[in-house]
Amino acid sequence: MGTKTVSDYSMLDHATQSDPYEFYALLHEECPVYHMPETGFYMVTKYEDMRRVLKDTDIFTSDVRRTVGLQGDGNTNIYQEILADRGWSHVQTLQRTDPPEHTRYRKLLDRVFTAKRVRGMLPYIEDVTNELIDGWIDDGEVEFISKFAMPQPGIIIAEQLGLDRSQVGTFKKWADAMLATAIKPLTEAQIRATAEIELEAQHFFAKVFEDRRTNPTDDLMSGFVHAHGDDEEPLTMHELQNLMHQLITGGFETTQSALAHSMWLLLRHPELQTRLRDDPSLIKNFVEEALRFESPVQGLSRMTTQDVDIGGITIPANSMVVVRYGAANRDPDKFECPHQFDLDRKNAGAHIAFGMGAHFCVGAMLARQEMISAVTHIVRRMENIRLAKEMSDPVHDTSLFFLPIREMYLAFDKIT
Ligand code: HEM
Repeated sequence: MGTKTVSDYSMLDHATQSDPYEFYALLHEECPVYHMPETGFYMVTKYEDMRRVLKDTDIFTSDVRRTVGLQGDGNTNIYQEILADRGWSHVQTLQRTDPPEHTRYRKLLDRVFTAKRVRGMLPYIEDVTNELIDGWIDDGEVEFISKFAMPQPGIIIAEQLGLDRSQVGTFKKWADAMLATAIKPLTEAQIRATAEIELEAQHFFAKVFEDRRTNPTDDLMSGFVHAHGDDEEPLTMHELQNLMHQLITGGFETTQSALAHSMWLLLRHPELQTRLRDDPSLIKNFVEEALRFESPVQGLSRMTTQDVDIGGITIPANSMVVVRYGAANRDPDKFECPHQFDLDRKNAGAHIAFGMGAHFCVGAMLARQEMISAVTHIVRRMENIRLAKEMSDPVHDTSLFFLPIREMYLAFDKIT
């Protein structure tokens, strides 16, 4: 770690975002609740402090509307006006609400995202996984992100949302636009262009919702339209659109990143390829440890409703709090030798990569199944998987909250 101190790092630097772990280790030692000088946000990094923040939804609200986000007031208003004019402006649902309002949305969503539905999807997930691998296994090399990590979760969500497999590129364009405003500050021209793409998605979804209202099917879209009980209000079009936004922004980039990092771990620890092939029962723990070690959602935000002391620091009311899942998952007080990837780690599953408390990830079961299927078939069908080209430096695109890997060129030997 040399002689670097906390002030040598900034969470806004691309290099730190891509490889934040030395910074996290310093913060754990020196200031676990860190007042970011560049933004005024408070960053929470210890596992136990995160537990407190995530569980106390009265003091740490998910309704962060009143804080100025990455785009500032001006551009945020332009974006919302464009949607309001010709589509549906964003309303606060689910992830941006607190109990008891959150409970209503969550109840409706839990009725749609059941364990039974995910179990029923297993053969389909396996088919998509193998079909993608079939597309390139005979070549002995592949660009893994565009040919697997992106399309596997992309096809699965897109087909649940009423698109067909060939439209995964359109779906990705929509997902990128929906995420864009959360990743980095945009210019006004970029804001306008991004809003146009979201409008296109909204009008597509509106047609599917209208169709499912009169012609119910067994897909997720139909589930949302019909999720209310006889004595409950149906979700409005504004609410339905916002739930789509959350499923897409919450479920796509995250799983893509989880798959990309799983592969990167197999490259950095090639002995794991053999161990997992020889004993597939280890794959479940591999997936949990991968989620702990390289958490796809490194951080998200909350806002304080009153002054509060945490980790010996007073955070004033109305402050933005960055909950740093990626740091909590490397907390030495929770995970022994946290910066070591350990396939046999006993408490790997205690990670909070899917969050904790009321907002625990709706798609966790689906994402885990997608990861398990991917790793199972990759190690079963190929060996000696290696990098065909150096990873870019930094490895990840710039992002304050996620860990997006855009390229990974592999070579491998097909197992016959
Ligand atoms: C490895 C993949 C994934 C990771 C790491 C992940 C991570 C997370 C995290 C950390 C949260 C908590 C948010 C908070 O506390 O504010 C969350 C919530 C959520 N996730 Fe995921 N997620 C993944 C996959 C998915 C998938 C596949 C879907 C849907 C298809 C999904 C949909 C959601 C939704 C809708 C919420 C909000 C839940 C609520 O507020 O009650 N996620 N996810």
